[in-house]
Amino acid sequence: MSKKKIAISTGGGDAPGLNAVIRAITLAALNRGWECYGIRDGYNGIMMPEEFKQGGIIQLTRDRVRGITHLGGTIIGTTNRGNPLNYPVIGEDGQITEVDRTQELVDLFHQQGFDALISIGGDGSLAIANALSNKGLQVIGVPKTIDNDLDKTVVTFGFNSAVDFATEAIDRLHSTAESHRRIMVVEVMGRYAGWIALNAGVAGSADAILIPEIPYDINKVAQKIKMREANGRHFSIIVVAEGAIPIGGEVSVIGKSIGQAERLGGVGHKVGAALEALTGKESRTVVLGHLLRGGTPTAEDRLISLRFGAAAVRAIDEGASGVMVALDPPTVNYVPLEQATNRMKRVPLDCDTIMTARDLGVVFGD
Ligand code: F6P
Repeated sequence: MSKKKIAISTGGGDAPGLNAVIRAITLAALNRGWECYGIRDGYNGIMMPEEFKQGGIIQLTRDRVRGITHLGGTIIGTTNRGNPLNYPVIGEDGQITEVDRTQELVDLFHQQGFDALISIGGDGSLAIANALSNKGLQVIGVPKTIDNDLDKTVVTFGFNSAVDFATEAIDRLHSTAESHRRIMVVEVMGRYAGWIALNAGVAGSADAILIPEIPYDINKVAQKIKMREANGRHFSIIVVAEGAIPIGGEVSVIGKSIGQAERLGGVGHKVGAALEALTGKESRTVVLGHLLRGGTPTAEDRLISLRFGAAAVRAIDEGASGVMVALDPPTVNYVPLEQATNRMKRVPLDCDTIMTARDLGVVFGD
């Protein structure tokens, strides 16, 4: 068995389970007699090491990864800025152009003596990973995102923890909603996919769930609330995905900054205000936002993360590259990064959870 030097990068928004993946990779590598390093803040640690007082590349030892399986966040940091595929550069005229810096990045990895890279990320990070692999670096991807919108894996790590937290929040809102006879609107993350809203909404017994895959008519939601009122149910719980869109309308966006994806948000307050006007009932909106990304991963997410991390090291050992480890129960297999990133996995309209929700009387606004 040849000794290898491998690198780990965590990119994009953090998700519960990142540290568990890092621990599994590190231990599986060390147990093979390899060396393992973490690149700080995505690829910033290798591309601009001068920015890091303690060094941009940190050696991951048994001590460094001890006791981190249950910790939220990532011990090596992450960023969703400075994508090396479209790196923003400000010219002398003040104009911003985007340049592809992936070849430079591959060269840096080779110069540092790395044999392979494990990239833990969502669609953006894994598209970069695919480009690096196409340019000759041995790269394995690990699917991370609370949004669960990555294709070719049954689930991404982080999703279960986000759904669990959102469900608990919805449970807690029931009593205050009922006490005050209010409409409680809960906005959850998920980008352009409704997985978190759908799963937490059904598990938390929401009355209406608005997801990007089913454009909504707010009047249909108001009708449901009025019907409940007529049946003596004086409160309602409405779960809204941040990417939900009214029929004929657009996704609600807070803003977009240079080199970043558009920031979704605001739909919960719009839905709350519209429902108040249509039903005459008081409403309150709760935006769960980044609370869904923080904190302890659930046992299920820890297990998936540890399995993904160990499988990524096995993939390197077997000489694979340009693949993502993917949950394919009962096993973890490898799928080409190309396939995993060329389409977003959205909620299928005929899936069992939607059918279940409809059977239970949940309204989607269609
Ligand atoms: O992709 C994960 C996610 O949490 C989305 O659900 C959300 O739209 C986005 O990241 C928010 O990212 P930021 O860290 O830029 O606020």
